[in-house]
Amino acid sequence: MIAPHLDIKKKGEECSLLAVVLLLFGGLESGAGVRTCPPPCACFGDLVDCSRLRRGKMLDFFPEWTVQLKLNHNELEVIPDLGAHASNVTTVILANNRISRISEEQLRPFLSLETLDFSNNNIVELKANSFPALPLKNLFLNNNRITSLESGCFTNLSSSLQVLRLNRNRLSTIPAKIFQLPHLQHLELSRNRVRRVEGLTFHGLHALRSLKMQRNGLSRLMDGAFWGLSNMEVLQLDYNNLTEVSKGWLYGLLTLQQLHLGHNAISRIRPQAWEFCQKLSQLNLSSNHLTRLEESSFVGLNLLDELHIGSNRVSFIADGAFRGLFNLQMLDLQSNDISWTIEDMNGPFSALDKLKRLFLQGNQIRSVTKKSFSGLDALQHLDLSNNAIMSIQANAFSQMKSLLELRLNTSSLLCDCQLKWLPVWVAEQTFQSCLNASCAHPQMLKGRSVFAVSQEEFVCDDFPKPQITVQPETQSALKGSNVTFVCSAASSSDSPMTFAWKKDNEVLNDAEIHNQAHLRVQEGAGGETEVTEYTTTLQLRNVEFSSEGKYQCVISNHFGSSYSTKARLTVNRTPYPTMQCSKHI
Ligand SMILES: *[C@@H]1O[C@H](CO)[C@@H](O)[C@H](O)[C@H]1NC(C)=O
Ligand SMILES: *[C@@H]1O[C@H](CO)[C@@H](O)[C@H](O)[C@H]1NC(C)=O
Ligand SMILES: *[C@@H]1O[C@H](CO)[C@@H](O)[C@H](O)[C@H]1NC(C)=O
Ligand SMILES: *[C@@H]1O[C@H](CO)[C@@H](O)[C@H](O)[C@H]1NC(C)=O
Ligand SMILES: *[C@@H]1O[C@H](CO)[C@@H](O)[C@H](O)[C@H]1NC(C)=O
Ligand SMILES: *[C@@H]1O[C@H](CO)[C@@H](O)[C@H](O)[C@H]1NC(C)=O
Ligand SMILES: *[C@@H]1O[C@H](CO)[C@@H](O)[C@H](O)[C@H]1NC(C)=O
Repeated sequence: MIAPHLDIKKKGEECSLLAVVLLLFGGLESGAGVRTCPPPCACFGDLVDCSRLRRGKMLDFFPEWTVQLKLNHNELEVIPDLGAHASNVTTVILANNRISRISEEQLRPFLSLETLDFSNNNIVELKANSFPALPLKNLFLNNNRITSLESGCFTNLSSSLQVLRLNRNRLSTIPAKIFQLPHLQHLELSRNRVRRVEGLTFHGLHALRSLKMQRNGLSRLMDGAFWGLSNMEVLQLDYNNLTEVSKGWLYGLLTLQQLHLGHNAISRIRPQAWEFCQKLSQLNLSSNHLTRLEESSFVGLNLLDELHIGSNRVSFIADGAFRGLFNLQMLDLQSNDISWTIEDMNGPFSALDKLKRLFLQGNQIRSVTKKSFSGLDALQHLDLSNNAIMSIQANAFSQMKSLLELRLNTSSLLCDCQLKWLPVWVAEQTFQSCLNASCAHPQMLKGRSVFAVSQEEFVCDDFPKPQITVQPETQSALKGSNVTFVCSAASSSDSPMTFAWKKDNEVLNDAEIHNQAHLRVQEGAGGETEVTEYTTTLQLRNVEFSSEGKYQCVISNHFGSSYSTKARLTVNRTPYPTMQCSKHI
């Protein structure tokens, strides 16, 4: 047999000139009826695999029974000529070659072509008239150098194309209505340079079910950016530079089920954002810049199943922020700045009666109360690890009858009489292996696992965590008057105290606050002891109607925070002097 020198390249040589044909094969096959594979290719069924031959020029003999052809990892600069045999080929893989232009002429013989893979080539643009009329369903153009899509470039594929991949190209704009592809189901545009999506960009894609636009540096989505995608199910916009979620750009996404917005710069979810997305079942907002979850943040997401808000900076969760999420099964709030939501709020998750998994690891939670998890009757997995938890009120977890896994690792526990219940309760459960909990106080128990402390050792000789002794009082005041709220707390520890006042759950950063410490004698089991009592006074001057609200003090030390009750301030109009009524004569 003659070994053909297929890889000899002459400058300026045209592909069609290369005619090293092994006529032998044609003869063999037609004679014996057996399928012969052209060496050095490999064949499997109707697949002819001539990949990785590293040849700029292909053998131009392909058996007539070829249906699938792999020509990836060669050095091809053009689409090879298969002669008449092209007409039965359904799949051509041309990935990892050096093709710089899609030629209508070279593709024309592939009358049955359904899958065409041009990934990793040197294509720089998609011109109109690039594609002949082909029954193409899958077109892969990932990792080329495409900078522009000319109007009409997909026209001849409009009655067949179902999957189009254009990831890793250099597109910086997508002309509106460029995709007139009514059968397209999946469109991928990740790793391009599209910074801004105009309204109606995707108009013409009624059948589209998924769109990927990750890693584009997207910063603006104009109103109606996705309008027309009336069958869309999955939208992936992770790793961009988006700053807000608003109904303007979500307009028309009536069937959306999954929205992936992780790793953006989102700091705001506008009210009514979800008005059009009521079918959403998975929402991923992890690794963004959210600091607040408002009452309006998730309104309308009645079918939501999973909500991921991990790795944001959430510290404020409004009362009722999760209220409408009737179907939520998993809530991921890990790695945020959550503290008082768990420490002080009355059932922040109480609307979530179907919730099965709750992730709160890596927050600033120092204490857990009976009210923290109330209403979570269906909860199966609760992760509180990587919070320096100091105290857990008795029965904090007891309403979770289905709990299978509880994760906790803290070495900060205040192992006094208040915590006596914990090892007893855990012993009755089956998940102790997930609990890593050791004492920081009292000194005698420091470093000991809470499960190695005997019941008699849990004693209340002191009270290092601040205890509120004077609660602020509800009051009403005249507009323009000065108002003070007073709050006191005591602690047996000399750990430094910090004081804060909140109005309607928001910390008052610029308020006028006076703090003082004084000694107080306290009657205890062991006789009289001197404790330090701390008083904090909030001074409100010249109150307005906007000063109305619920005021609360928060007193903290190394052992935790104590929250006072909330005192309401009402502001009344100043009565008019009678003089002003002397209009009637
Ligand atoms: C295409 O396939 C049909 C049926 O398998 C066959 O009869 C025909 O010869 C093939 N055409 C070419 C050009 O190979
Ligand atoms: C469509 O395909 C035909 C031939 O198959 C070609 O002549 C024509 O230029 C193509 N049109 C576009 C807009 O690509
Ligand atoms: C995102 O926006 C910021 C500020 O506008 C800019 O500095 C940064 O480079 C942008 N990142 C990307 C990936 O575009
Ligand atoms: C949420 O998105 C981030 C990336 O943005 C990803 O790493 C994470 O796996 C996603 N989570 C889920 C459950 O899809
Ligand atoms: C929790 O455990 C991890 C390792 O298992 C450790 O790095 C971390 O410091 C622990 N956190 C606390 C609060 O103990
Ligand atoms: C338990 O916590 C201690 C202290 O934080 C840490 O060193 C250890 O690795 C943890 N063990 C497990 C099993 O997480
Ligand atoms: C409120 O305080 C301001 C500033 O100290 C003071 O000037 C003013 O007289 C006070 N108003 C009343 C009604 O006491």
